[in-house]
Amino acid sequence: NGHDDVRRRAQSRSKSRTKSRNSSVGLRLQPDDFEFGEVLGEGSYSTVKYAVYPPTDQEYAIKILDKSHLVRKHKTEVALLEKNVLARLGPGHPGIVRLHWTFTDEWSLFFVLDLAKNGDLKTRLTDLGSFSIPCARYYTAQLVDTVAYIHSKGIIHRDLKPENLLLGDNMWLKITDFGTGKILEADSDRATTFVGTAQYISPELLISRCTHRSSDLWAVGCIIYQMIAGRFAFNGMTEYLTMNLVKNVEYTFPEGFDNEARDLVQKLLVLDPQARLGAGPPGSPNDMNALRSHPFFASIHWDSLWKDPAPPME
Ligand code: ADE
Repeated sequence: NGHDDVRRRAQSRSKSRTKSRNSSVGLRLQPDDFEFGEVLGEGSYSTVKYAVYPPTDQEYAIKILDKSHLVRKHKTEVALLEKNVLARLGPGHPGIVRLHWTFTDEWSLFFVLDLAKNGDLKTRLTDLGSFSIPCARYYTAQLVDTVAYIHSKGIIHRDLKPENLLLGDNMWLKITDFGTGKILEADSDRATTFVGTAQYISPELLISRCTHRSSDLWAVGCIIYQMIAGRFAFNGMTEYLTMNLVKNVEYTFPEGFDNEARDLVQKLLVLDPQARLGAGPPGSPNDMNALRSHPFFASIHWDSLWKDPAPPME
């Protein structure tokens, strides 16, 4: 097994070294242990690179965060948060880009992540314009299933958008970028102070600066709309105007928009966070199962969602 192999190799090397810069027990990885390849993505504080771990030939995406940049911009907590959120999510769901290891060197933090080989939904949407209904339905189902899991672990993503929805092996969806995530305290379900991406921000965030679990459901509504309509639900000439549209829940459907999808979007893009479909606590009448039961998903087999092949991307 690849993990044991890493541990054995790592431990034997650490014995022969006098000083270690990595404090996690038993794991003494360093950049030299990987063969780095092309840049897969770039964020404001990080670069994601393709990498292979030669002992196992396993491929990864390694997110590299520049330490001095994080310190200068007061973003060290963001990096720590992302690591903690990913650690908390664990390996328990196929719809999440999982964290395998972390290590550091003098300049950088390294997060060794699942590689999602097939790009992201934003690029696919740009290329195709919009998705067919079966394709949009499938990715919505995988998104809803994964968001339900994330919430069940007490985490809100807070920046769900097509560029954070990657495509892994088999073209299955994988959610990434938990740098904006929020770990909810045991007894609260609201979190304060954060702004995401204008087109997907929920009205409660703009109005009261609070996010709920259901702020992710707002984003799901925006994403369904975009996959089918081929444009943003809310998009003004400026960010300010976009935010006004969001606050007023001001959007219209293009002609011919699928009826069941329209009904679902209308039940997600609702001003009152508690009133959104799926926003109730687990076990209540409006929990995530209520969302899974919406007629738009009638043909979805939830039990084999992560076993069946993906429909054609079209
Ligand atoms: N770009 C950003 N994160 C990635 C990942 N985990 N796999 C592939 N490309 C990415």
